[in-house]
Amino acid sequence: MDLLKKKIQDEGKVLSESVLKVDSFLNHQIDPILMQKIGEEFAARFADAGITKILTIESSGIAPATMTGLVLGVPVIFARKRKSLTLTDHLYSAEVYSFTKKETSEISVSKDFITSDDVVLMMDDFLANGQAALGLLSIAEQAKAKVAGVGIVIEKGFQNGSSQIRERGFNVESLAIIESLADGQVTFKEEVVS
Ligand code: G4P
Ligand code: NA
Ligand code: NA
Repeated sequence: MDLLKKKIQDEGKVLSESVLKVDSFLNHQIDPILMQKIGEEFAARFADAGITKILTIESSGIAPATMTGLVLGVPVIFARKRKSLTLTDHLYSAEVYSFTKKETSEISVSKDFITSDDVVLMMDDFLANGQAALGLLSIAEQAKAKVAGVGIVIEKGFQNGSSQIRERGFNVESLAIIESLADGQVTFKEEVVS
């Protein structure tokens, strides 16, 4: 998605060889027009998937997921992160380990909002090692919902998240795939047009 790549080149800050800061439009301040275009793009890519729900994680997945839900006309659920759960009866939950933060958190979704009748699109702002997306997939599995695929705004192609997800047989659509953050430069993966 050229508009997104341009925004990343113009406003993204390369903090290290593995971390890109995009606080000015995605992770802190949000650019609503860009989010709208992102929503339209995901809706087009998953137009024929029969999606009934979108599932993301708080907090930065919510903006792009909501815009996609608006275009597709379906509800958006965000998994909640919490340190410890006391009442797990009415929740689907999964443990998510963050290699970046070196901590495990538990994510959970109420059983009220995803059922075996649903076709769910997973979404997130970043895909790094894929642990968050795998947690969302586990929740969809627990609900016996059908998985339409995974929609990612920015994929770090040099980490193994997308292969982890594809190995499990799921389609991953990433709007921008970063090949490298070496030398303070963002280099995108060339798109293969089929
Ligand atoms: P993983 O789920 O793919 O394995 O990723 P990881 O544990 O490494 O990511 C932990 C958090 O860091 C996630 O946000 C993720 O979106 C974010 N993240 C990972 N790599 C980058 C990066 O290069 N740049 C930025 N800006 N964020 C990155 P989170 O803690 O869930 O926070 P939020 O959703 O509230 O923003
Ligand atoms: Na995130
Ligand atoms: Na984030």
